Amino acid sequence: MLVLGIESSCDETGVALYDTSAGLLAHQLHTQMAMHAEYGGVVPELASRDHIRRLVPLTQACLQQAGKSYADISAVAYTQGPGLGGALLAGASFANALAFALNKPVIPVHHLEGHLLSPLLGDDIPEFPFVALLVSGGHSQFMAVRGVGDYTLLGESVDDAAGEAFDKTAKLLGLPYPGGAKLSELAKLGRAGAFELPRPMLHSGDLNMSFSGLKTAVLTAVNKARASDNGAPLSEQTRNDICRAFQDAVVDVLAAKAQQALRQTGFKRLVVAGGVGANWQLRQRLGSLNKVHTYFPPLSLCTDNGAMIAFAGALHLQAAQPAGGFDVKPRWPLS
Ligand code: KG4
Ligand code: ZN
Repeated sequence: MLVLGIESSCDETGVALYDTSAGLLAHQLHTQMAMHAEYGGVVPELASRDHIRRLVPLTQACLQQAGKSYADISAVAYTQGPGLGGALLAGASFANALAFALNKPVIPVHHLEGHLLSPLLGDDIPEFPFVALLVSGGHSQFMAVRGVGDYTLLGESVDDAAGEAFDKTAKLLGLPYPGGAKLSELAKLGRAGAFELPRPMLHSGDLNMSFSGLKTAVLTAVNKARASDNGAPLSEQTRNDICRAFQDAVVDVLAAKAQQALRQTGFKRLVVAGGVGANWQLRQRLGSLNKVHTYFPPLSLCTDNGAMIAFAGALHLQAAQPAGGFDVKPRWPLS
């Protein structure tokens, strides 16, 4: 069976073809990052319009890449939510129209389930059960994953998501949108320990997290550093040191909570998914936990993409779960 996957929940249009016997056949992505950069954040109306422009050419490129035609498609999976309402509607309309025209089932997929299962598309495939750490621009959650469709929320951020905190802190440091990845590159050049930032909720005893206060702590550090230099702009080294201090704080919290989640569940496998899963320091730290096997999706599948939607859709199809209709769910908890 050949499943076409459509992702359009935010600022990336992703289309992919997953074959239940041959695996991932094609994977096309268009990022709107440059378009939104001049506004310093995602403009929902522009995002929706761009998804509409991109969906057909990306689908055609996928079919060509895979050497397939529309007639070969067995089902169309699309991201039903959570995400931006208009952006989701663009993907949902396209997926439903195409499925209707082909007389094939349409499979609504939860965006976070896509992220959760994306490590199964990698070379090193985790067995169930595992703890999933989902760290994206919209979510920071720990999930106990016992099988496909069996997800229990263990804890989450009570305010900003980790990726959101990366992006907001980057903006505050004058880095172009979306600054998360750039901040993490600059952190490589920063000196550990040059600045001390808090580790919010490290000892809260639960698996919840909080990242919005860190951004304020960064602002305080920036103001202090500038005041001690007669109001001059931050030097590159100081800015890099602050990037490092911020990243150290986020990674410390995520690593400590991940270990707690593993202890609490008794699971020995940890899966890291979502855009922040591309972070080098988080990968280093979580990859070296004692007696734990940590899995990361391939870097190209860490951020939003159509492959994870096609794959989750294929699993739903194989499990013969009922196909859904035309609907989007901008707010939609996974468990
Ligand atoms: O999963 P994703 O592509 O989209 C959402 O579903 O939100 O995650 C995007 C987030 C952004 O906040 C981005 O800044 C962050 O992931 N991100 C990173 C890195 N690469 C992307 N954060 C920290 N370090 C990175 N290397
Ligand atoms: Zn995402």
